[in-house]
Amino acid sequence: MSDGLEATQQPATNTVAHVLRLSTEHLAARGSDTPRLDAELLLARATGLERIELYMSFDRPLNAAELDVARELVARRARREPLQYVLGEWGFRRLILTVDRRALIPRPETEILVDRALALVAGSETPLVLDVGTGTGAIALAIADEHAGARVTGIDSSADALALAAENVARTGVAVQLARHDLFEGLPAGPWNLVVSNPPYVDAADLATLQPEVRDWEPHAALSAEGAVAAVARGSVSALAPGGALALEVGEGQAAPTATLLTQLGFVDVVVTPDLAGIDRVVEGRRP
Ligand SMILES: C[S@@+](CC[C@H](N)C(=O)[O-])C[C@H]1O[C@@H](n2cnc3c(N)ncnc32)[C@H](O)[C@@H]1O
Repeated sequence: MSDGLEATQQPATNTVAHVLRLSTEHLAARGSDTPRLDAELLLARATGLERIELYMSFDRPLNAAELDVARELVARRARREPLQYVLGEWGFRRLILTVDRRALIPRPETEILVDRALALVAGSETPLVLDVGTGTGAIALAIADEHAGARVTGIDSSADALALAAENVARTGVAVQLARHDLFEGLPAGPWNLVVSNPPYVDAADLATLQPEVRDWEPHAALSAEGAVAAVARGSVSALAPGGALALEVGEGQAAPTATLLTQLGFVDVVVTPDLAGIDRVVEGRRP
């Protein structure tokens, strides 16, 4: 497959500026929504430069080894592999996490879920926290990282995801317990002070309409599991300590029915928080 960098065979044209331009054009032609950003981050990885340093190094030629690495990274991204998987790591809150096909890439909107989760346990010195469907461990690790007294457990039904989460525990040095557990079998007995979850919430019928980066590369079990949001809400009723809180990330259009469900289940202080795009994204409530 063409990597778009053929013209860089001539040494005089192997400069950072030239490779950036060719890579950007190639990735745009292959359908990337963010071709320039992709090209910059991939070229930064290939050269060992910071992204900002690329701009001060436009005339610097790439050596043969750097060019080989750049070619391979750009070719992977051109196949619509997510940028985050190609780079192998991604930032979430204050942490850099390993990301690969074993688990969903942590999303910016999930940082808002963490904001709400931290607010819900702000008054508690040593809250017991359960993250349901932990994936990379992003939510569990961020809460443990940002609340010094929190004791956090992450559960997932995927052994692959749990293996990746364990690597992130080791990588970050943040203490989080991990366990294999199917959320449809109820939640592990706490009693927890907070249950937080970004459950699979994409309608199975919508999977085919997603961007190739999501549809063809991220685990479908992380995207879609019918009834998962309601199962976490129902499971929380018995798993939460009195006064304990539940915070759920939900898909577009799901916040109002989820808030209604929480009210029906007896939760109080039910609040919906929008994401940065203005979409109602996080639903929370408290057990009386
Ligand atoms: C949307 S991803 C969230 C991952 C991570 N918490 C995040 O926010 O980036 C949903 C997670 O739920 C897990 N999952 C799916 N079905 C499950 C089940 N029945 N029981 C437990 N976890 C499940 C998936 O493996 C996946 O890691």
